Formats: sequence, C-alpha cells, structure tokens
Amino acid sequence: MSYDPIIAPSMLSADFGALDRDVEMVNRSRAGWFHLDIMDGTFVPNISFGFPVVKAIARNARKPMDAHLMIVHPEKYIKRFAEAGVEWLSVHYEACEDLGAVLSLIHECGMKAGVAICPETPASVLEGWLSKMDFVLVMSVHPGFGGQKFIEDSIAKVECVREMIAREGASCLIEVDGGVGADNIPALARAGVSAFVAGSSVFSAPDPEETIARFLSLAEGA
Ligand code: DX5
Ligand code: ZN
Repeated sequence: MSYDPIIAPSMLSADFGALDRDVEMVNRSRAGWFHLDIMDGTFVPNISFGFPVVKAIARNARKPMDAHLMIVHPEKYIKRFAEAGVEWLSVHYEACEDLGAVLSLIHECGMKAGVAICPETPASVLEGWLSKMDFVLVMSVHPGFGGQKFIEDSIAKVECVREMIAREGASCLIEVDGGVGADNIPALARAGVSAFVAGSSVFSAPDPEETIARFLSLAEGA
C-alpha cells in the first residue's frame, strides 16, 4: 500500500503569540496535516499545550489535525480529542497499559489510530498489532522537545516497520517525527515514510511556506 507524501508541520514550533497567522500559513501551504504535540510532563519531561490551544487551532484549520499524545493514560482524553476535531490520533506504545482497548476507543470515536514508538523501543513490539492501527509513528528523536538532532538509525527502523506491515498484510501509513528536514526526507521517503512531521525546520526557516513546498517535492521525488 502506498500513500502520497504528506508534510505535517508541528505546531509546537509555531509562534503562540501569532497562532492564527501560523495556522493561516499552514492552510495556504502545501502541508497535508497540522501536527499537534501533546505533552504531560510525566510521560515526557516537558509540558506543551492542551485543549484550549487545540481548539484555537481547530477554529481556523482547514486541513486535518494529527495529534500525537505523549501522555500517560491516553484513554482518558481520546473522546475529547475527537470532539475537538482531531482526525488522526497517535498514542505511545510505551504509555498504553491495554493497547487493544486504546486502539478500539480511538476507532469508536471515529478517528484514525496510530501507535508511536520511542527511539529505544524496537519495532518488533508492533508485531501482531499492525492490522489494528492505521499508522505507525516512528520517533526519530527522544520525545519531549522540538529542535533535536535526527537519529540516523530511524531510517533502518522505518524499513523494518515497512517490512512488518507487508508481512502482516496490513496497510498502515508510516509517519516520522523529530529532526526531519531536507537532509533526511529523501532517504526516509525511500525507506517507506509517507507523513513527515517537521517543526523547527519549517518554522525557523525564512520562508516556512516555501520550505513546506520544498520538503514535499523532496518526498515526491525520492
Ligand atoms: C517531539 C515532538 C515533535 C517535535 C518535532 O517530541 O513529537 O513533533 O515537535 O520538532 P522538530 O521537527 O523540531 O524536531
Ligand atoms: Zn510529534
């Protein structure tokens, strides 16, 4: 199964004092999704933002929202993300006590279900689960902060996930998140990534809209 490439700007790197402006930039751009990083200070050593900000983005977003929950007990909040308008929701494998129940709940709430794995978590933990999810999020940095350096081993991990998906006859999309930019997009695309999360490389660029278009071309041309 192959998917058209998607660039998903991480709103964690947006300017929260000019949020509407940055949401409009993503709307105008060739980005496919809004990536929303939700951190609880427990699963990861940082707190990002919660429902008031998600709703402020949702009010003006004209593209699907992809929320990445870096929180313990994600099951407590799944319904509220659906009500806020999120369409793609990922939870961390490491944070779920009952992964099957969490994935079912995401689907019952009408969203696409994804499972994120940290750099130190082997892809093999997903064995047997892939037909129950819509996407896999391979973390290419340790979750918690934007602006970190891409972990090169993530490319091999993506290849491994792609092979497992094929082996299990599943049709999951592969998303990658952390340190993504022009230097690694072509190799990631060749390895099997369809959704590219990019925070600092987009928002700290002189022209974020042009940067998104360039990243998409790199993914398409790989
Ligand atoms: C990290 C977050 C990422 C992050 C990406 O925990 O999940 O989405 O914001 O930011 P960059 O692209 O700057 O690594
Ligand atoms: Zn993320």
